[in-house]
Amino acid sequence: MTLTRREVLGAVGIAAGSCALSSCAMEGMGSFQGGTGKKVFPWKYTELDPDITARRAYYYYDKGHCMYAAFAPAISQLADKYGEPYRSFPVEMMRYGAGGVAGWGSLCGAVNGSAALMSLFVKKEDELKQLVDELFLWYQQTELPQYVPQKPALKIEIAKSVSNSVLCHVSVTRWCKVSGHKTFTKPQKERCKRLSAETAKKTVEILNAHFASRFSAARKHNEKTQQCRSCHTKGSELQNTRGKMSCTSCHSSIADDHGLI
Ligand code: HEC
Ligand code: HEC
Repeated sequence: MTLTRREVLGAVGIAAGSCALSSCAMEGMGSFQGGTGKKVFPWKYTELDPDITARRAYYYYDKGHCMYAAFAPAISQLADKYGEPYRSFPVEMMRYGAGGVAGWGSLCGAVNGSAALMSLFVKKEDELKQLVDELFLWYQQTELPQYVPQKPALKIEIAKSVSNSVLCHVSVTRWCKVSGHKTFTKPQKERCKRLSAETAKKTVEILNAHFASRFSAARKHNEKTQQCRSCHTKGSELQNTRGKMSCTSCHSSIADDHGLI
């Protein structure tokens, strides 16, 4: 009997780890399906209440910081409704994102947790990217936080700022400059709590729209970034950079005509 390639590949799924491919490419992989098993991914999403999400996120911040706060509310609501597998998700792992990953000031934990959440439910890579783009552009371009909790832990007016960056370092420090507060203070924590709540809420709004087939991308890169990318990114003449962050948030002093001379 001769097997087609498809049949051989199918057999690998059943006799996982048994090295059924002639190339033995799977040898040493054990029985781990690498997340490609249909049953385990993606997880099912059902419409969630954005306001409940924000309230829970604000509360959860105290349990595990920003990334945890952005991720846990959706999982906890789905666990309340359906139990498993949501109930067993080890949401504590999301604590790593605090302060831009273990305090490194890199990717803001609120958007990191939100992108992780989207990735749990949205399988198609191009769709996932669209949703993440929308959230990240919103985060970069919007005066935040606007969210005011019903029972604030700290009853003060929180200044709003535009981060122009998804980096924790830039986002927090821009806010410090606008508000006059230092980082590692109660007002800064309150700002990040509200920001996490608002980001979690926005994420659920995007996911609700996506799964109701009414999502359409509303935001674009700012003009400068579009310009820069036209010469420097994938498919362009130089193709020597990657990324979608606002270029001028770091390259603020580059001459407008630098590439043209
Ligand atoms: C978070 C800060 C940051 C952001 C945002 C950023 N860059 Fe950079 N970029 C850097 C740093 C730092 C270097 C310097 C690397 C070096 O030369 O050591 C660099 C280098 C470069 C270079 C130089 C490559 C070379 O050949 O010397 C180009 C071109 C560039 N960036 C384009 C972009 C574009 C286009 C964007 C927007 C899509 C962008 N950058 C966004 C920080 C940033
Ligand atoms: C019209 C095409 C074009 C556009 C638009 C453009 N660049 Fe460039 N850029 C170039 C060329 C060409 C070079 C020189 C490349 C080399 O020498 O390897 C360059 C070099 C650079 C460098 C490294 C050298 C330096 O001067 O520091 C950085 C950083 C850079 N560009 C960032 C940017 C950013 C940020 C933007 C948007 C504000 C941008 N570029 C827009 C074409 C362009």
